[in-house]
Amino acid sequence: MTAVQPVTNCHKVLRSLIDMLIPGTSKKASQILNKDLTRETYIDYLIDLYHMVVAVVPQMQAAIDTLKKENNPDNQPFIDYLERHLEEEAGHDLWILDDLKNLGVAPETVLAKTPKQETLNMVGALYYRIIHMDPTAILGYMAVGETYPISNSILDTMKKAANLDENHVYALRQHAEIDVDHSLEFYEFISSVKWTAKQQQHMLDSARSTIYHMIIIGDTF
Ligand SMILES: [Fe+2]
Ligand SMILES: [Fe+2]
Repeated sequence: MTAVQPVTNCHKVLRSLIDMLIPGTSKKASQILNKDLTRETYIDYLIDLYHMVVAVVPQMQAAIDTLKKENNPDNQPFIDYLERHLEEEAGHDLWILDDLKNLGVAPETVLAKTPKQETLNMVGALYYRIIHMDPTAILGYMAVGETYPISNSILDTMKKAANLDENHVYALRQHAEIDVDHSLEFYEFISSVKWTAKQQQHMLDSARSTIYHMIIIGDTF
């Protein structure tokens, strides 16, 4: 996976937390990211991914709404960043549905599936953190989900292993490119704001919680 390096102290902690916990932390991650990937495993992975990605834009919107309710002018750069980024993330759930369709799984089949309890736990916990604790929680989630894309070379290994076509991996291929920029923008943004100690703690707690849930999702398969 490709990692973009942060600049400030809080971000170094965030980055090292992710570096330490993400690689090879679940059975699924190791299966997905190596030459043993099968088509079935990849389909399961995309379905899990869909259930997470479909909530990304609404979660950002929930953070924007919560920040606006606080009516604090200091929140404006954070609102601006999320509003900008929300547009960049719109429709990525549909890319995953298209890839699944090309793999023979109809969108109706994916939509009719109940997400895993672990996925609901992760997504639900983040909504709770954003709305009832602190909207900076969204940044901890983004640090995990957006700054560590699967690289093009790993994608090529996956394609070869599971005999996949390019139109099965469009969502991941796009993210291999765009999340490098999103990662730079993310670290640039969080470096530009003077966060309180409490906000930094919320970011780190949310990143830790996201990784914890992702490991469980990856292992329940
Ligand atoms: Fe995305
Ligand atoms: Fe992104």
